[in-house]
Amino acid sequence: MTPVARKSKSRRKRNEAARADRYVLYEASVQEPEADIDLAEEIFEKHYGRKPTRLREDFCGTALLACEWVKRHAKNRAWAIDLDPEPLKWGHEHNVLKLSDDARARLELVEGNVMSSPTPPTEVICAFNFSYFLFRERRDLKAYFECARTGLEDEGLLILDAYGGADALRTLSETREMDGFDYVWDQHRYDPIQNRVVNYIHFEFEDGSKMKRAFRYEWRLWSLPELRDLLLESGFSKVDVYWEGVDEETEEGNGEYSLEEEALDDPAWVAYVVAYP
Ligand SMILES: C[S@@+](CC[C@H](N)C(=O)[O-])C[C@H]1O[C@@H](n2cnc3c(N)ncnc32)[C@H](O)[C@@H]1O
Repeated sequence: MTPVARKSKSRRKRNEAARADRYVLYEASVQEPEADIDLAEEIFEKHYGRKPTRLREDFCGTALLACEWVKRHAKNRAWAIDLDPEPLKWGHEHNVLKLSDDARARLELVEGNVMSSPTPPTEVICAFNFSYFLFRERRDLKAYFECARTGLEDEGLLILDAYGGADALRTLSETREMDGFDYVWDQHRYDPIQNRVVNYIHFEFEDGSKMKRAFRYEWRLWSLPELRDLLLESGFSKVDVYWEGVDEETEEGNGEYSLEEEALDDPAWVAYVVAYP
């Protein structure tokens, strides 16, 4: 290559998609660690009359939740587990290193399998953004729940999120406008025989560039009664469902979750499942 050609290539403006960091976009689009922790603390306190201090974040990805946990109170400690070194390294550089020295010393990132990583027992175990849906066989999900049960202190709770409703059981694509980009949730494949899905997250930018298939998920959609039965079979004594309230004006979910035994039909719900030892 001639020096002239090299110069013109280096000057070529890269598009927004090529410059973007998929983990920054992911965290901005789908994670709300403050709200998740508010809910976990509120439920724990309601049940046990005190605040929890020790949290394990399973399938932690970039460990944003665990970082928020150790920031929240000076006594809080957290263990964050993920198999994949890539999001852990990103989380270390972008989330853990932003913590104060004191908070950082109370957090441990663990590269390993949630089924076998030896962490001390905690009062709260979280598995968010539907990560446990990757267990597609009943025996595998049961083994994970048994493992989580063993990893909890006697006064503890396992908190999971789940989604469902008629819209979950079909292919569709939904775009949500974010600050500077669009988040696209692509339910690409749905198999009604096995209740399995293939979903993607894409990101699209104002200059027309796209980051296609930034994240891919192959999941089984577990129903709330299936989860409750399996959790009880796995050694938990009680399972509650926290259901989202509805904003009367917009008729959309209002982000407020309350303990419910029954709910009205909703084509696209997200709920929290809470299991007690
Ligand atoms: C959907 S991401 C969840 C990230 C984060 N928890 C959140 O709320 O957005 C799922 C993560 O689970 C990790 N993972 C999958 N199987 C795992 C296992 N058996 N043990 C630990 N981590 C696992 C993947 O590497 C991936 O980072």
